Amino acid sequence: MDQPVQTEVWKAQTLEELIEILHRLFAGDKVNVAEVQNVMESYESNPEEWTKYAQFDQFRYTRNLVNEGNGKFNLMLLCWGEGHGSSIHDHMDSHCFMKILQGNLKETLFEWPSKKGGGELLKKSERVLRENQCAYITDSIGLHRVENPSHTETAASLHLYSPPFETCHAFDQRTGHKQKVKMTFYSQFGERTPYAASVSQENN
Ligand code: SIN
Repeated sequence: MDQPVQTEVWKAQTLEELIEILHRLFAGDKVNVAEVQNVMESYESNPEEWTKYAQFDQFRYTRNLVNEGNGKFNLMLLCWGEGHGSSIHDHMDSHCFMKILQGNLKETLFEWPSKKGGGELLKKSERVLRENQCAYITDSIGLHRVENPSHTETAASLHLYSPPFETCHAFDQRTGHKQKVKMTFYSQFGERTPYAASVSQENN
């Protein structure tokens, strides 16, 4: 018989402490989604701790690598200018945790395209995530698009992907057609990625 899953309650006082706890939670083979979501939510965003990773771009949202999680996960800070958004995309069978550090982000969930004929992607739900909330998605839940709905305020979010992945699929909402896209980092550990390595088929 399966053992009941033990969920420990962690509280991260600082970003550094959060990263330390995440390393422990991902040390084994199993991921306890509720535990990770809770600890990410427990961290009260303190811009003084994460501004060094926050690099914005005028035209698109940026992905800034914060920690490589011993190869088990990638932790990154995403910087969203006013009105910036992602494509509708999948997560390559990885876990995706998304914690809001500043501002609000709108998450729209879509069904996968039907196996038969494609066609317009069905919208399942939408919600606005607020500061310190942590959302979770994986491919069995569906596809999503993430956007900064504000035209006057920027937003920042902390994303954890496990296992890490470097490509995903972007979907056309109208036709359901997908295209493989490379995910790159605008900066890594606070340093701007050299131009050639950061040019991608954007996920936005
Ligand atoms: C997300 O999947 O939550 C945001 C998109 C990205 O990682 O670029």
